[in-house]
Amino acid sequence: MVESTSATHKSLSGATYWFTGLSGAGKSTLSEALKKTLDLNLGDTSKVYILDGDVIRTGLNKGLTFSPEDRAENIRRIAEVSKLFNLAGVIVFVAFISPYAKDRDAAKNLHAASGLKFFECHISASLEVCEGRDVKGLYKKARAGQIPAFTGISDPYDAPTNPDLNVNTGEQTLEQSTAFLLKH
Ligand code: ADX
Repeated sequence: MVESTSATHKSLSGATYWFTGLSGAGKSTLSEALKKTLDLNLGDTSKVYILDGDVIRTGLNKGLTFSPEDRAENIRRIAEVSKLFNLAGVIVFVAFISPYAKDRDAAKNLHAASGLKFFECHISASLEVCEGRDVKGLYKKARAGQIPAFTGISDPYDAPTNPDLNVNTGEQTLEQSTAFLLKH
């Protein structure tokens, strides 16, 4: 008989590294660099998984808007998914803006309730840095009023007040940020 006790879950559990930050802060880039290194170190590509807002919003969360309600639903679903991956023993890097503290807290509590490790990581490049990069050209459009409720411009970003990890990708190179997280 297969038992599903919290003890068995615990022995198999992975961990969630929840990357929150403005669009263009480097959440996806950092996740990919970390996965690449960990896959190599572990000699196994199945132990680390990335859940990325830009990707998930084209599939599982297709149809969700950027209203506060839909952002909350976006985060709620992803927290549930990352929990399931953790229970299967996988380390997950979650790369979503996740701008509202209450939604991140709910994600954290969901993991805690199952005894799972959850680290809130603030990818803290400033608005000036992110807007200066404007990799996708979205800040320009947001400033021109073409994208309503754009995080940091016309919709709030609640910066974490007490993150488990702070990674300032505006001041550090990708190598430095990756090394900092790998050490953890
Ligand atoms: S979240 O706020 O719901 O957590 P999520 O991480 O899924 O956001 O998606 C963010 C990505 O959607 C951004 O990197 C950007 O490419 C795109 N995007 C499109 N419209 C918006 C908007 N109004 N606010 C923020 N990001 C937007």
